[in-house]
Amino acid sequence: MLHGDARELALEGPFDGVVTSPPYPGLIDYHEQHAYAYELLGLERRDSEEIGRGVKGYCDDIAAVLARAGRALRPGGKIVVVVNDRRGLYDGILTAAGLRLEDRLLRHVNRRTGRRKGEFYEEVLIATP
Ligand SMILES: C[S@@+](CC[C@H](N)C(=O)[O-])C[C@H]1O[C@@H](n2cnc3c(N)ncnc32)[C@H](O)[C@@H]1O
Repeated sequence: MLHGDARELALEGPFDGVVTSPPYPGLIDYHEQHAYAYELLGLERRDSEEIGRGVKGYCDDIAAVLARAGRALRPGGKIVVVVNDRRGLYDGILTAAGLRLEDRLLRHVNRRTGRRKGEFYEEVLIATP
């Protein structure tokens, strides 16, 4: 496991594929949501490096991460991004990352229980460099 800022971490690779679920812009504070996990695992908190705390800068930051991921792929490799793109940001993000959208699949998230139960859809974007 590599623990660090995806905009800077050295990726070894080359990889056959990258599957990622990027932060939702301006919606969730992941450090607070998973505060127990940082404590339990003794991980250093990196709040200031969290992408998506504000919407500002989100597109540039995610594009930078995906561009790096694209460079770490073997020829023919794919990047799979699981996201709820309700702001319609990802066409621009993929273009800025030098990626081409191959497919956009809609996924009904219908296996939730308890408080999180409800109608929720997300997309699975499949992209190539
Ligand atoms: C939608 S969640 C995905 C969680 C993941 N799929 C999982 O099962 O743990 C987005 C994740 O991106 C992480 N994240 C935010 N900024 C980051 C950064 N600069 N580098 C690496 N990860 C980051 C958040 O902490 C959060 O865990």
